[in-house]
Amino acid sequence: MNTALEDTIYCEPDRIFCKIRKIMVGVDGSEGAARAVTVAFEIGELTKSKVYIVYIIPLPNIKHISVMSDVSEEELLKKYEINGKKILQGYEDAAKDFDIKVEIILDRGLASDVLIALSEKIEADLVVVGSHGGTGLKGSGMGSSTERVVLGASCPVFVVK
Ligand SMILES: Nc1ncnc2c1ncn2[C@@H]1O[C@H](COP(=O)(O)OP(=O)(O)O)[C@@H](O)[C@H]1O
Ligand SMILES: [Mg+2]
Repeated sequence: MNTALEDTIYCEPDRIFCKIRKIMVGVDGSEGAARAVTVAFEIGELTKSKVYIVYIIPLPNIKHISVMSDVSEEELLKKYEINGKKILQGYEDAAKDFDIKVEIILDRGLASDVLIALSEKIEADLVVVGSHGGTGLKGSGMGSSTERVVLGASCPVFVVK
């Protein structure tokens, strides 16, 4: 059945953006993620939201790299963990320039799956991700984590180019 234009239900003025209280942003140390964080912080300030900054240690990548090199999974995991903590710490410090509350989260797994699960656990009202991340293959649409998060998340997703 076709909906006539005059029957379209528009969002009420205080829906979606004005009701945002919790924002989750995914970071992977890339330039794309840095832009996403800046946008998340700005929306956080505008909507007085808490911003959850999340870094997922990419377990599938670790298994792959370990098989291809002499480095053990344990050793790689430790390196990713140290790097992740450093990235999160940097953003926690950067947040001091904004009038927002932040929480940093370090988790592990397939980035997209864990980002979706966390967004549901936190009950995020908005997820912010970069259009691209660390892999940096900019010629072929958006990054695979972002594509999966856009398709799989149950809240609005803001993709920052
Ligand atoms: N390991 C991760 N932890 C948290 N967020 C991530 C992670 N990897 C990617 N993201 C988010 O997804 C965005 C796009 O990354 P991705 O889809 O992996 O693209 P690419 O294929 O270019 O690496 C990043 O800018 C970041 O916001
Ligand atoms: Mg990536």
